[in-house]
Amino acid sequence: MPKLFHLRCSPRAASESSEGAEAFVTRFRQARPDWEIDVMDIWRESLPEFQGDVLEAKYARLGGREFSDAQRNAFAVIERMAMRFALADRVLISTPMWNFGIPYKLKQWFDLIVQPGLTFRFDPAQGYFPLLKNRPTIVILASGGDFVTGMNRGRIDMASPYLREILRFIGISDVRFALVGPTAGPAEPARLAREAAHRLLAEMAAGF
Ligand SMILES: Cc1cc2nc3c(=O)[nH]c(=O)nc-3n(C[C@H](O)[C@H](O)[C@H](O)COP(=O)(O)O)c2cc1C
Repeated sequence: MPKLFHLRCSPRAASESSEGAEAFVTRFRQARPDWEIDVMDIWRESLPEFQGDVLEAKYARLGGREFSDAQRNAFAVIERMAMRFALADRVLISTPMWNFGIPYKLKQWFDLIVQPGLTFRFDPAQGYFPLLKNRPTIVILASGGDFVTGMNRGRIDMASPYLREILRFIGISDVRFALVGPTAGPAEPARLAREAAHRLLAEMAAGF
C-alpha cells in the first residue's frame, strides 16, 4: 500500500501547523483513499540522544571502521527511524518556526537520520551523494510573524532554507512550502492567513 509519512513537529494542542496538516490530510484522504498515512509525532515518540554509541557509530562509518556490537545495536534504532521515512512515497512535514529556525526535536531527528551509508554516501575523492529517492514533499511552516516574502520586519526565515538544504542533501529536492502566518498578533490577519493557507493546502493535497 502506498504511504504518506507525516512528521508532526508541534507540541501544541491547538497548533497552527498541525491544523494546516489536518486540512491537507482531509483532502488527501479524499483524493487517495487507499493510501496509508503514517504519523510520527516527534514530541511523543522517543528519539535517542545523539551521543555515546550512536555518535561513535557515525564516526566509525565515516572513518571506514567496523561497528562494535554496542554501536551496531544503537545504529539499528536509527536505521528503523530512517526506513520509516525512506519507504514513504510522499512526505508531509508540519512544523512551527522557533527562533527563526526549526524546533530542536526536528533538528534532533535530522541529526539522527542523516547518516553515511543510510541517507547519504561520502566518497573522499568525489564528495557527497544522496541515498534517498526523490519524492514529493510538502513542508507546512507556521510562524507568529509573516514570512511570505522570506523576511519579516528585517528578520530572516532560516527554517525554510535549512529544511530545503538538508532534504536536498539526502536526495529529496521535490519540496514545496506552505507558510502559515502571521499566527500571532491581531485576530483578523491571523484568520486571513490561516484561511489562505488551508485553501492552498487543500489544493496541494488534491494533486499530491
Ligand atoms: C520557542 C518559540 C520560538 C518562537 N520563535 C518564533 C520566531 O522566531 N518567529 C516567529 O515568527 N514566531 C516564533 N514563534 C511563534 C510560533 O512560530 C507560532 O506560535 C506558530 O504558530 C507555532 O506553530 P504551532 O502553532 O504549529 O505550534 C515562536 C514560538 C515559540 C514557542
